[in-house]
Amino acid sequence: MTKHTEVGDLIQLRSRRGGHKFVFELQAEGRFETHKGIFNYAELLNLPYGAEVKSHLGRSFFITRPTTAELIEGLKRNSQIMYPKDIGITLLMLGVAPGQTIIEAGTGSGGLTLALAQAVGPTGKIHSYDRRSEVQSLAQKNLAQFGLAERVAFHADDIENGFGQTNVDALFLDVPNPWDYLPQAHSALLGGAVLGSLLPTMAQVLELLGCVHRHGFAWPETIEVLLRPYKTEPAANVRPEDRMVAHTGYLTFMRAVHYPKSDA
Ligand SMILES: C[S@@+](CC[C@H](N)C(=O)[O-])C[C@H]1O[C@@H](n2cnc3c(N)ncnc32)[C@H](O)[C@@H]1O
Repeated sequence: MTKHTEVGDLIQLRSRRGGHKFVFELQAEGRFETHKGIFNYAELLNLPYGAEVKSHLGRSFFITRPTTAELIEGLKRNSQIMYPKDIGITLLMLGVAPGQTIIEAGTGSGGLTLALAQAVGPTGKIHSYDRRSEVQSLAQKNLAQFGLAERVAFHADDIENGFGQTNVDALFLDVPNPWDYLPQAHSALLGGAVLGSLLPTMAQVLELLGCVHRHGFAWPETIEVLLRPYKTEPAANVRPEDRMVAHTGYLTFMRAVHYPKSDA
């Protein structure tokens, strides 16, 4: 059966050519105003997803459900956020699944937080740490507008002081000096669980790799994700876009183990 729009749905209106996207929660009454015209909520309700709607200016849009990448794209930000290309593989490498408890630091604008909150589902929990409380308030607002804030506990703390959780399923550090927090991360993680990190320079990766075994971690892997988008208009000859994001950072993953005392 075709799914129809309901009050409370998070919807995206996308222009016919795709360049304009507006994401919002459908309400019973009122309207959504954009620079491409106004949409009355009543006229957007009980329509099949994929249907065409027009603004009061006659501009044509289609109703879709926003993907995680589109939600991240639209976040308000006051820090560098992780790119969807890095977030996608991070979720897989951390082994994130519904019902899990995951720690991340720092929260930043909440890019990774959003994807983690979606991936653990309503029965999971994300503990997100940042030492800057103003950064966390924006992330909290970002998550709340998509109905995901309840899955996240925001901690305005410096992770130097450690994490308040133990036996967590995975932990991700998006801070410039993750090697300084390996003991704290090890204490929080379930045995065998994955720690991940994103670092912009190879000098930082080398520093991290140099500390792995000393702090009870094993099997480090470092990867870099290169995403090459293509022009998809056959008339314009399908070929790579002229520009790409060439570098964001190196992702490093490792697992928490308990080495015998004799190995120390
Ligand atoms: C690059 S941003 C994180 C971006 C985030 N992953 C996202 O996708 O939006 C790095 C954040 O780490 C925080 N941070 C750096 N060192 C920290 C520490 N020792 N404890 C807590 N937060 C820290 C900073 O305040 C900053 O907001």
